Amino acid sequence: MAVTAITPTPAQLLTDYDGWTVQAPMVRYSKLPFRQLVGEYNTHITYTPMMVANEFSRSEYARASDFSTSLSERAVFSLRRRRRGGVGVSGRHAFDSLSDSSAYEQHTTPVRGCLIAQFAANEPVSFSQSAELIAPYVDAIDLNTGCPTAWAYEEGIGSALLRKPEIVADIIRTTYDRLGGALPVTVKIRIDKEEKRTEQLIRNAVMAGVSVIGIHGRYRTQASTTAANMEGIHLAQSFSDVPTIANGDAWSLDHALAIRDKTHCEGVMSARGILSNPAMFAGYKDTPMECVDKFTHLAIAYGLPFHLFHRHIAYMLESRMTKKQRLSWHTLHSTPAALDWMEEFRREGV
Ligand SMILES: Cc1cc2nc3c(=O)[nH]c(=O)nc-3n(C[C@H](O)[C@H](O)[C@H](O)COP(=O)(O)O)c2cc1C
Repeated sequence: MAVTAITPTPAQLLTDYDGWTVQAPMVRYSKLPFRQLVGEYNTHITYTPMMVANEFSRSEYARASDFSTSLSERAVFSLRRRRRGGVGVSGRHAFDSLSDSSAYEQHTTPVRGCLIAQFAANEPVSFSQSAELIAPYVDAIDLNTGCPTAWAYEEGIGSALLRKPEIVADIIRTTYDRLGGALPVTVKIRIDKEEKRTEQLIRNAVMAGVSVIGIHGRYRTQASTTAANMEGIHLAQSFSDVPTIANGDAWSLDHALAIRDKTHCEGVMSARGILSNPAMFAGYKDTPMECVDKFTHLAIAYGLPFHLFHRHIAYMLESRMTKKQRLSWHTLHSTPAALDWMEEFRREGV
């Protein structure tokens, strides 16, 4: 008899089960084939790329080009349920139990992973409209308050919201009310140089009903080449009464476990690490060829545009390509040529 998987919210996955690995939102890259791929390699929560709520809510064309999903996108994991008793007043678990396997029941349960749709917005109407439109297909809607690009900042979206806690709270509350709480609202932030600002932002979001907070351990002005600030993430999570996800410099499963220990966040999110090795949360040190093959299959099946397929494979194989192979890869302009190249790459014995 087929067993039906439990379908938790992201907050439940993070607090009630040992579901904690997260693929970060990535413009251009975290589309359907990639999300499904990482789900096959032990990634419990996935995010869409950032979409612009103003466009998504108004245009059928934007919706069709920005978002697609499929019934098989979310993987089912065998997860252990956390034992009752370790939950604090707020509903979060005492940290001591996070890495401690006795905190979990021994047997596992089939649990479906979660998909979160991320949007940029600077007001509640377009965000809550987008939430309503996308609700049947996702497990939560996320507000991006971290995008540092100049155009986003000028539009008052992304990291422009980091110091506007009232707008963030208004967006969360309006969306919560509009959907009667049916779709959890999450938020992804960056830490602020002024700790008080981070505290204000988080406390406002929690008061407004946010269900999970992703914390990127870099300031708005810091590039990804700056090491992520684990103490900053730890401090930020201490302001939160809801589950948190640490983000920054997770390049392997071991890194991610260390980050969870250092920051006390329930989850750990990876962007560049999982882009270069989609199998990282399953413990692989490099992208296995079998993962490259699976991605190729998914990209073709879902019709991923060639230029994105080409970039993804470059990220996955970069560390293993010789200079000559790298140069020849960048001359390719079609899927058949890329498939031939990959066949040759395999024959050359990697
Ligand atoms: C190619 C790329 C695209 C990104 N797009 C988004 C996005 O759409 N939304 C977002 O919140 N962050 C985006 N980010 C930031 C990441 O989600 C993440 O916060 C950042 O890269 C730090 O994580 P890392 O150190 O694991 O790379 C992007 C990062 C990269 C590398």
